[in-house]
Amino acid sequence: MLGINIGIDLGTSSVIVYVDGKGIVLSEASVTASETKSGRMLWTGLKAYRMIGRNPDSVTVTRPLKNGVISDFTATQGMLRFYLQKICGNRIFKPNIVICMPSTVTSLEKRTLLDLATSSGAGRACLVEEPLAAAFGAGVAFNKPKGVMVVDIGGGTTDIAVITMGSISVSKSIRIAGSTFDDDIIRYIRRERNMIIGEITAEEIKKKIGCAHIRDAEIAIQVKGKNYFTGMPDYFEISTTEVFLAIREHLQQIAEGVREVLEITPPELSADISETGIILTGGGALLRGMDKLIEKKTKIRTVVADDPVNCVARGIGCALKHMDILEENGYLFKTREDISVRPEQDDIMLI
Ligand SMILES: Nc1ncnc2c1ncn2[C@@H]1O[C@H](COP(=O)(O)OP(=O)(O)OP(=O)(O)O)[C@@H](O)[C@H]1O
Ligand SMILES: [Mg+2]
Repeated sequence: MLGINIGIDLGTSSVIVYVDGKGIVLSEASVTASETKSGRMLWTGLKAYRMIGRNPDSVTVTRPLKNGVISDFTATQGMLRFYLQKICGNRIFKPNIVICMPSTVTSLEKRTLLDLATSSGAGRACLVEEPLAAAFGAGVAFNKPKGVMVVDIGGGTTDIAVITMGSISVSKSIRIAGSTFDDDIIRYIRRERNMIIGEITAEEIKKKIGCAHIRDAEIAIQVKGKNYFTGMPDYFEISTTEVFLAIREHLQQIAEGVREVLEITPPELSADISETGIILTGGGALLRGMDKLIEKKTKIRTVVADDPVNCVARGIGCALKHMDILEENGYLFKTREDISVRPEQDDIMLI
């Protein structure tokens, strides 16, 4: 195939780009800022992220992906085009792109992703499930007939999958992940403290003192917010136990999701997992005690992968080197023509 091979982890929180032969070349927040009147994109990435909650009326800040899928096509396209242009410049041959998706998406969502990639500058595009890529990035072998369970906790989705021989056996994607915890913290502080905070502050609280269990040594931090009654800026304190109480219901739902996937896993693979353990990837795996929570719920050894945030991008990088194996499992590159001439079942039903 002509053109360079690129892997993109197009996430709800961040976009990470891997270029074959170079490694990870870009990691940016999945946020765009555009002119409100004309819709023209002004900034994307960190610059746009810093504007969340601080933008003037003339600028609209958007998170173009929600729960792992595209919620604003134009903004996602603008963001992807910008990054591809930055990476590829004016190369003659368009790049071949492998892009990841949640493990359970509809055919229509798949087509939208392929349409997005090919209209943003890809010559050919191929979709790979996020937990499969995460497994490769965490070092799981491509072609061994041995079951491994991967739980990828991102910003918008938690993908739980059992992988064997470079393919997914059973999987589940739930729309509870890092940003759900941020929303929980915002609601808790509003309810218990009558204070209003923004999503960036909530995320900071989670990263600093968030925990998936009650900690022995309690820590409290001081946070700035806005008093709900007076409307004035104010300070308040929040402790590790309070953050745990705010997010615990959703933590339990993630652990429950893992149990449900184990329950439907074929027996031989289930026996393998009790030996190989469960691997956690994605930014949500960095929440203190996440591994212990899953371990307690499943009674199976659980570990956080090295550098969990970049696992998916690294895994797509591995996939780019072993496309022959993936092709055998039905992961094929498609051109813009391929997408337009072959409508899939779901689309016909939708019409
Ligand atoms: N140290 C940390 N503690 C807790 N959460 C963290 C930490 N670091 C990052 N996160 C959270 O991880 C999430 C981002 O993870 P990641 O980059 O894997 O998501 P994504 O791939 O963009 O999203 P998705 O896969 O759901 O589309 C954010 O919610 C972020 O707040
Ligand atoms: Mg992700």
